[in-house]
Amino acid sequence: MKILFVADVFGTAGRRAVEERLRSLRAELGANFCILNGENVADGAGITPKLADKLLAAGADVITLGNHVWRRDGMGAYLEKSERVIRPANLSRHAPGRGLTIVDGVAVINVLGSLFLAPHINPFEEIDAIVAEARAKTQMIVVDFHAEATSEKVAMARWLDGRVTAVIGTHTHVQTNDARVQPGGTAALTDAGMTGPHDSVIGVEADLAIRRMRTGMPVRFYPAEGGVRIEGALVECSEDGRATSIETVRVPFP
Ligand SMILES: [Fe+2]
Ligand SMILES: [Fe+2]
Repeated sequence: MKILFVADVFGTAGRRAVEERLRSLRAELGANFCILNGENVADGAGITPKLADKLLAAGADVITLGNHVWRRDGMGAYLEKSERVIRPANLSRHAPGRGLTIVDGVAVINVLGSLFLAPHINPFEEIDAIVAEARAKTQMIVVDFHAEATSEKVAMARWLDGRVTAVIGTHTHVQTNDARVQPGGTAALTDAGMTGPHDSVIGVEADLAIRRMRTGMPVRFYPAEGGVRIEGALVECSEDGRATSIETVRVPFP
């Protein structure tokens, strides 16, 4: 089994790359399953029901989200019904949607980090129960840990070693060079990167991001367009859910 993880799809440029290239990339890599983080597809912040449907139609089997989950209207009702689009599990217990889904025998879990982000529940308090719930049904389990701090992401990967197939980090938009299979058989990568315009500051027009940082004044952000790449990771695992390899994916588009 080969699982392709597509890192945070950013703006129109990222979505176009997915729409035009994901199918052929899946075929080239021999991926049987595709998980895609879609939290930045709506102009860099959030997702809409229509955009989620477009990404699913483009070849994603499951879409995960992150801290921008509620930025756009209509996502509550959409997540309530969707079996293929999930949000971080450790948000408010009263929020619509879910943080675990199982599609074609692959469980996908989405959790939000607690360092420099605002989860309602510490991810380490939530993760054991949700992994147990997934393991009752399947051995193939991929966790999208949407978090800022490398320390927290490495700790989560170690904590879950032997219990899930892979722990893939998202949110920073900068791909890390630490893809590895841990001793217990869980593949890990601190951050999968970004599918979108890399001639930017993590997706945003560089001038705008720099102006906000230099002046401390509010500056409206717009997505950049240049230097588009599809980034992510390819995980291979056996039927018992143990990872046998993980490699990063970085493909220029077009
Ligand atoms: Fe993101
Ligand atoms: Fe994020």
